[in-house]
Amino acid sequence: MKNYIKADAWNIVEESFDPHLNKISESLFSIGNGRMGQRANFEEDYSGETLQGNYVAGVYYPDKTRVGWWKNGYPEYFAKVLNATNWIGLNIHVDGETLDLHLAKVTAFKRVLNMKEGTLSRNFRAELNSGKIIDVQAIRFCSIVDDEVAALHYRIVPVNFEGVIHITSFIDGDVKNQDSNYEEKFWEEVAQEQKNGLDYLLLRTKKTEFEVCTASCSLIFKEGDAQTTRPVAREKYLAQQVEISVKQDEAIDIYKIAVNVTSQNYDKPDLLKIAAERIAMASAKGFQQMREEQAKAWATKWAEGDIVIEGDLAAQQAIRFNIFQLNQTYTGKDARLNIGPKGFTGEKYGGSTYWDTEAYCIPFYLSVAPQEVSRNLLIYRYKQLDKAIENAIKLGFKDGAALYPMVTMNGEECHNEWEITFEEIHRNGAIAFAIFNYIRYTGDEHYLADYGLEVLIGIARFWKQRVNWSEDKNKFVMLGVTGPNEYENNINNNWYTNKLAAWCLNYTMEAAKKVEQQYPDEYKRIILKTNLQDVKEFKDWKRVADEMYYPYDEKTGVFLQQDGFLDKEQTLVKDLSAEDRPLNQKWSWDRILRSCFIKQADVLQGMYFFEEEYDLETLRKNFNFYESRTVHESSLSPCVHSILAAKLNDEEKAYEFYLRTARLDLDDYNNDTEDGLHITSMAGTWMSVVEGFAGMRVRNDRLIFNPFLPKSWTSFSFSIGFRGVPLKVKITATGMLIINSSDQVLEVSILDQIHVIPSGETSVAYKVALV
Ligand code: BGC
Repeated sequence: MKNYIKADAWNIVEESFDPHLNKISESLFSIGNGRMGQRANFEEDYSGETLQGNYVAGVYYPDKTRVGWWKNGYPEYFAKVLNATNWIGLNIHVDGETLDLHLAKVTAFKRVLNMKEGTLSRNFRAELNSGKIIDVQAIRFCSIVDDEVAALHYRIVPVNFEGVIHITSFIDGDVKNQDSNYEEKFWEEVAQEQKNGLDYLLLRTKKTEFEVCTASCSLIFKEGDAQTTRPVAREKYLAQQVEISVKQDEAIDIYKIAVNVTSQNYDKPDLLKIAAERIAMASAKGFQQMREEQAKAWATKWAEGDIVIEGDLAAQQAIRFNIFQLNQTYTGKDARLNIGPKGFTGEKYGGSTYWDTEAYCIPFYLSVAPQEVSRNLLIYRYKQLDKAIENAIKLGFKDGAALYPMVTMNGEECHNEWEITFEEIHRNGAIAFAIFNYIRYTGDEHYLADYGLEVLIGIARFWKQRVNWSEDKNKFVMLGVTGPNEYENNINNNWYTNKLAAWCLNYTMEAAKKVEQQYPDEYKRIILKTNLQDVKEFKDWKRVADEMYYPYDEKTGVFLQQDGFLDKEQTLVKDLSAEDRPLNQKWSWDRILRSCFIKQADVLQGMYFFEEEYDLETLRKNFNFYESRTVHESSLSPCVHSILAAKLNDEEKAYEFYLRTARLDLDDYNNDTEDGLHITSMAGTWMSVVEGFAGMRVRNDRLIFNPFLPKSWTSFSFSIGFRGVPLKVKITATGMLIINSSDQVLEVSILDQIHVIPSGETSVAYKVALV
């Protein structure tokens, strides 16, 4: 755990430079715009520890996996988001000496991620070995207005000398991934061009043959006078160079604008031309105007989805950091893109799509972004339905059964750990649940007719074929799965998976009936396309759903995570010694699998999804039983526990779990922030506040709240949109203030009482009403 980030409501601030923390800061100060993103690497040379990372969304490489014993069904590759052309690069030499903060004496340093305006800045003073001192002020951003464009301004001022500063402003595509399995470089050059002071580098990924053209325009000034640069070129690398004689205090300004355009969006032969157009457009706007537009666009995002916490600055900073990073990672403009668990902040998890999106991220985007954003996340899976059907065929399923991959870039399965990852077929259920959740929140039932039902049919068919009838139990059972708790493999009857499967079957039938009644023509189209034998298939599905087996223990009254769970030695997390934690680093895999310790919410994930089906007493028993065995070694775990604890009115526990995720990265809680940020679990932090503390749900087309205020806060408020109504909800110790900034009247339920919320401000004294 670290504690070096200064608390501030709108900024992430680092006030000194510690090379040991550099990789952590590179993750924390990452910037992005949904289309591209990058770690906070320095513009100038740095010979210390660093993880270079520039990423272009959707551009990946299928790196061959390293598996000792190959078995049928293993995926061929593990997809990787690529470290792409470094567009920020500058080499600065002062009278022949390289500016490198690893070698220089850094006497002042401040790095600020301005979350309000979406910029990263860094100011420092460095004393070189020669004794020459320079001041640098650098600021950059990835534009969320023109998401193919990024820009930086880098100012150098000689503090105590007169001399020659040699500047090379470059774009470098000769880069590799740290996690490249065979030390391979993934890019090859297609073309390069230098004209009118602009650099164009067109690269292609090996195997996947994505082409990305990075273009950059470097404008360099001394005291406002433009300097003429000379071009430098080598393979996969282009630069502009200049030597400038400066006197003490004379400023050199470097403005660099870069664009990334890709063959995902344009025809390959046009990429150079499009890059030239984009760079011309951006240069015409100029750095300052782009920066102003950036601030305005971020203001809109904050108006849609800010959370304000009064009385706890560290909590305020943390929640904004989470919201900021989520908004930088996914903007919902392109249904081919998704949210990697690390976003654009590192290589871990390969930038691929996991069930995290449906189970954790959808609720966030549903509330804080226009409806199209979460709709596009669902359409992403719709577009991959054919591949999910192919994937199921490969594994022996048939007749249109669809199994979505656990890890994917393009719809193909590309995980690299069979036992853990592949067997987590529960992801199919989360995808179906997300469709339900989207419709519950937005009321957009037409989605079922447009896309949703086809996906549900494929998923339902899979579950029907995946179960088998057990003569012994006289029930349908599901063998050989892994639940969300990855500290168990190849288990039988994971309660959560069985529950989700039965729910999917019922929901698909319900959805089909809805489409048949409301959109009969669409229904006919879907029947033809999917070859749905509705009468027969529904009968089969109903039988499976009705006769599914659920492991249950009469004595304790808990749903059993899987068959035989109670055969394990029942020890509790509180009895583990500190040296044993985290288990995944301290214990052998074999020992973990034999133990009863749970990585993340499993049965409780099901109780969270389907909470209406369980009374508080059942929830309490299960919560107490499973939470005491859960080590929360996935960052996705605490949020579900926080929400359920809030539901059980255990305010202290709810807050305690919230704290575990809120500053997970800012304080490097798990000692792994240097690999990248836990982007998908950040959505869980948001859920802990809105679904946990405010108790917000959607039931029967209405928002409901069961709020409480954490003891250490004075108040909290959040902005959301619900069915076209922008709302701000503020919760204090005794009441709620709801600001409806539309002219529609909205009915909400607060502690089971219906309130009519007209346009403007409404106060509801919920605690007073209770007393
Ligand atoms: C979790 C999975 C999750 C993955 C990516 C793992 O540690 O156990 O549930 O999908 O990380 O975030």
